[in-house]
Amino acid sequence: MNTSDSDPTGLRVGVLASGAGSNLQAILDSVHGNFGVEIVCVASDKPDAHALVRASKSAVATAVFPLDDYQTRETRDAAMAEHLRELRVDLVVLAGYMQILSADFIAAFFGRIINVHPSLLPKYPGLSAIEQALEAGEAHTGVTVHHVDEGVDTGPVIAQEAIAIAPGESLEALTRRIHQIEHRLLPEVIAQIANDAANG
Ligand code: GRF
Repeated sequence: MNTSDSDPTGLRVGVLASGAGSNLQAILDSVHGNFGVEIVCVASDKPDAHALVRASKSAVATAVFPLDDYQTRETRDAAMAEHLRELRVDLVVLAGYMQILSADFIAAFFGRIINVHPSLLPKYPGLSAIEQALEAGEAHTGVTVHHVDEGVDTGPVIAQEAIAIAPGESLEALTRRIHQIEHRLLPEVIAQIANDAANG
């Protein structure tokens, strides 16, 4: 068994995801159960997020926090933070989580929340980042993994990888290539954080 319960140097990870969950899958396939990393929970704001199905297939606990079930975004995020705290989560990974986190949630896990974004931040934060880079005629775009602060995709960069946009490249082709990078870069960063934590 490779869990933090048996390994005090392990990294307990909670993943937040709203959608397809291909980044979650990459994490489950590469770092979950390795490098002292254990995905202890996948939480979503969307009850029908495919990410939840992926988690269940890997026997990872799931939880759903739909905004409609709470009076405010703050109370929803407080419940989510409490849940992650109960599971003794060390690191919160946003993998396609499409909600803005409340200030209190960010304060509760400050420095321990990371996000993957499909552009070379600070260029193209927010939605439709791949489309925006393509429409702007950029020669390059890429992927950023960064710490999460209260802004939209504004926190300090941890890792970045650039790719050249091919002349006439379609949105579909570019999106595919960006996702391939995300699926490698995000697990690499999580493994690095686990390694850093294990080595003090
Ligand atoms: C990814 O492109 C990620 O960079 C962005 O949302 C997308 C999520 O895709 N934040 P998936 O749900 O992991 O497939």
